This record gives sequence, C-alpha cells and structure tokens, in this order.
Amino acid sequence: MKEAYRVKGISESVIREMTRKAKKYDAINLSQGYPDYPTHEDLLDEAKSAIDAGINQYSITWGKEELRKKIGEKLNDFNDIDYDPKFEITITCGSSEAIMATMLGLIEPGDEVLIFQPFYENYVPAVSMASGTPKFSTISIDQKIDREEVKEKVGKDTRALLVNTPHNPTGKVFTKDDLGFLRDICVDNDILALTDEMYERMIYEGEHISLASLDGMWERTVTIGGFSKVYSITGWRVGYTAAPKELMKSIRKVHDYTTVCAPTPFQQGSIKALDLPESYYKNMLDYYKKGRELVYESLKKTEMVPSKPEGAYYMLADISQYGMDDLKFADHLVRKKGVAVVPGSSFYREGGKDLVRFCFSQEMALLEEAMDRVKN
Ligand SMILES: Cc1ncc(COP(=O)(O)O)c(C=O)c1O
Repeated sequence: MKEAYRVKGISESVIREMTRKAKKYDAINLSQGYPDYPTHEDLLDEAKSAIDAGINQYSITWGKEELRKKIGEKLNDFNDIDYDPKFEITITCGSSEAIMATMLGLIEPGDEVLIFQPFYENYVPAVSMASGTPKFSTISIDQKIDREEVKEKVGKDTRALLVNTPHNPTGKVFTKDDLGFLRDICVDNDILALTDEMYERMIYEGEHISLASLDGMWERTVTIGGFSKVYSITGWRVGYTAAPKELMKSIRKVHDYTTVCAPTPFQQGSIKALDLPESYYKNMLDYYKKGRELVYESLKKTEMVPSKPEGAYYMLADISQYGMDDLKFADHLVRKKGVAVVPGSSFYREGGKDLVRFCFSQEMALLEEAMDRVKN
C-alpha cells in the first residue's frame, strides 16, 4: 500500500527498536531513557486513590484545572514565566504529544524549523508530519553551538527554532549567553521559539534558563515540559505545553482531536509532584550524578571517548577507535556484550556514525554490571 506523504520516509524509532533488541538478547538496556530513581510515594498514592475514587473518565480537554494552576505557579517560580492557566497551559499525553501538537498547530507547509543536531528523535518526524521542512545546525560534542551556522540557516522561510535544554543527547545546558544569542535571532527575524525543557531539574553544571523568560521572547515562545523523567513516571504520559493564548488556540485544536485529554488519574497523581520539597530534586540529582561519574570514568578506561554531560542523563561516546560504524558497534554491544546503547546516527540528519549514546538512568548495580561488560 502507498504510504501517505505525511509519513513517507519516516522510519521507526531507533531508540525504541534498541529497547526491543535489549529484550530479545536479554541485555542491560542503556538505550531508552527509563528513569530508575524511585517514583515518590505521594504521587503513587494520589493516582491510586484517584482510581479508587472514580476519577477515571475524561478530564476537561485542556487538563485538570488544579494541575494547570500548579504548573502555572511552577512556571512562575522556577522558570520565571507568567502564563494564564485558563488559556495558556494545556496538559498533554507526555511532552511527545506537546511537541507534535505544537508542530501541527503552528507549522504550515513550506515553513522551515531549525533543529539542533544531534536531536531528540521525535523532532524531525513532528516537523515532517506538519509538512514543514527541518533545517539543522550542529552542536559539537563538547557542547557548543555554531553561531555562524545558526545565522546562515535562518532565512525568510524560517518559522521556528527548536531548543532543547538540558539537551538530549549531548547533555548541553544552554547558557544565558547562548539563549541571548538565540533571542536576538528570533526577534530580529520575527520567528517563533519552541523549547523542550523536559530535563530542567536535571542539571549538574550550569543553571536552567527558560528562553521565554528573556526580553521579547514570551510572545513568541512555546514552552514544553513534562513529568516523565524528573518524577520517574514515563508510563503515565503527562506533559504540558504553555504559550500565549493566540498560539495556544491552534495547539489546543490539535490536542482536542488527537488525545482528548491526558489520563485523568495520572493527571491527579502529577499534582503531587509539584508539591514535593527541594530535597526531592537534590536527592534525585545525587542519584544520577553517581551514575554519570561511574559511566564516564568506566568509558574512559576503554577505547571510547566519552563526553561528560552538564545535564539530563545521557552520555555520548566516540567509538572511532573500534573500526566499526555506530550501527555495527551497537549491534555488537547488544549481541556480544549484553548492553544496549543507541547508535549515534539516529540523532543526526547526517553524521553521528562515530558515536553511541549511553543512558545512565539505571540503578548503580546495573550500571556497574553494564560497565564491566563493556570493559571486558
Ligand atoms: C528531549 C526529550 N523531549 C521529550 C521527550 C518525551 O518525553 P515524554 O513524552 O515522556 O514526556 C523525551 C524522552 O526521552 C526527551 O528526551
């Protein structure tokens, strides 16, 4: 059967394929970002009570009012951005839906969207499905953006620039200076910014700054976030998008007719996430910091050259010494060593063949075992 133009050329997610391979070869899965930090009991209790209390039907389409209000407060306190929860915040089925709904709602055929590569693999299909054209600018392995390249890639057809900070997969935390530069690009060229801030609480070096909080950006930015990683609830599918009312109107139309609403009892459980004390975030960071050190130090003892992330829980490693490309290397690792990683090329339009990505979100004992397997 002929494929619709919308999905033509889009291949299955390599990351999720690696998870299937990990299962098949009974390997330790350091490919997909499953957070292993324990989910806080308050969230679990609240979701269970919600189910028992019969909160099992559709919520209002834009998301439970209390959750939107709490997200509005969080965006104010933590991100320094002011949104009206009534019209400017929408709860989605994970930030994945937020990304897709934003693209479908705001990108028109022929619009160009500038994406930094390596990229989180959902971005390009989302732009393509919206009939937009992805353009790319490369972040170096030592986590620098190329300002000249960004300027070159932005032109009369550019509708939006997509920023992900902390960045998956390099771990880059965009600095105030980086964001100031991107602000000037957006304002001078009158383009939108879409920011994916999924890992905003996972920062080892630097600080989280939301692009929308910079002068001149609120009116042109869609801020996307989610509960999956920071609260270890990837299966609950709760995320959000926040944008000025005029932009949100279009995003809400897509959301309304695709998912209707995020799972109601899990929206209820997520409310508790936003009541957790600062100590929760500190402990979670301490947990992932240990994994970061272990994986970094262990990979340094191999022929790989790892690059230490400033945020999130992924690590890229250069494998050029092994005489295999990324696909062969990842295949070798999963079949022969029992460790699943992601081939680097899946994060690039072109390139990445000398890289693989390790996820260090697993508990220490498993990471230790994985590193032993990789080293031997
Ligand atoms: C940068 C980034 N954005 C968004 C997502 C999607 O997360 P979710 O749909 O679970 O909120 C991920 C998941 O890995 C990610 O790494």
